[in-house]
Amino acid sequence: MARYQTSGILRGRERGQRRPEHLTERRSKPPIVELRQASKVYAGGHVALERVSLRVDRGEFVFLVGPTGCGKSTLIKLLIRELEPTEGEVLIAGKDIATLSNDRIPYLRRRIGTVFQDFKLLPSRTVYDNVAYALQVIGAARSEIRTKVPDALRLVGLADKTKNYPDQLSGGEQQRLSVARAFVNHPPLLLADEPTGNLDPATSVGIMQTLYRINKTGTTVVVVTHDREMVDKMRRRVIGLDAGRVVRDQAAGLYSDEESTREFAARLRDELGVEDERY
Ligand SMILES: Nc1ncnc2c1ncn2[C@@H]1O[C@H](COP(=O)(O)OP(=O)(O)OP(=O)(O)O)[C@@H](O)[C@H]1O
Ligand SMILES: [Mg+2]
Repeated sequence: MARYQTSGILRGRERGQRRPEHLTERRSKPPIVELRQASKVYAGGHVALERVSLRVDRGEFVFLVGPTGCGKSTLIKLLIRELEPTEGEVLIAGKDIATLSNDRIPYLRRRIGTVFQDFKLLPSRTVYDNVAYALQVIGAARSEIRTKVPDALRLVGLADKTKNYPDQLSGGEQQRLSVARAFVNHPPLLLADEPTGNLDPATSVGIMQTLYRINKTGTTVVVVTHDREMVDKMRRRVIGLDAGRVVRDQAAGLYSDEESTREFAARLRDELGVEDERY
């Protein structure tokens, strides 16, 4: 009997039917982001996205680039169901988010950190409270807030500005604060729409370094940007849109995962000709 079972297992392996469990799991885990033939036509008939299909795997760092008006922000809005596709499907971690009932949407957004160009900071609250607020609204315990907020502020290099108000910060610091707020709950997915839009090159490197550091913790990061030079230097995956269609999908450059965040920032500064080290 025992012999029969053993040979049964062997036969199964020989036919490729049994795989070690960790391999089976990796194979079956759906991508964190998937668009299937997704189109978005705005009221009035403008086609902002046309049959876009793409997948982003867990842990990736992806740039989304393309000329103004090509549909980048529209795509980001589809991922948090701020907009719904006119046709096609948007899946997050394998789930078609069109099927979520309205009362599940906050749970979806809790798992996705977002950084927008206009920061959306609360002007009457301090740096600390702006980040703490993101946890308070989801009912986090006080003890959790007390540890997570300083951690997030340290991560973005704002540990010494906790008592400042947003209007007492530079543009780059405000942007880093919005990154801290998006990351404080350690979401599996972080979306940043033009996070370096109006910032100088040295500050932009700082923001990219922060996003890279966040990515190294395992969070998948999708960054929309116009900064062609930065994209070329970073050696990450690049998805290009033009007039609502995917026109480029370029894999990450060799060895990109092996750089430490310091090496990464030093290389970027060097290649972009940026002298000062901000933080
Ligand atoms: N609410 C809307 N109603 C109608 N058309 C819209 C709406 N929002 C965006 N559009 C149009 O859809 C197209 C894509 O807009 P989107 O904001 O996605 O572009 P983008 O790639 O993010 O551009 P940018 O780089 O300038 O931010 C644009 O032509 C825009 O004018
Ligand atoms: Mg945009």
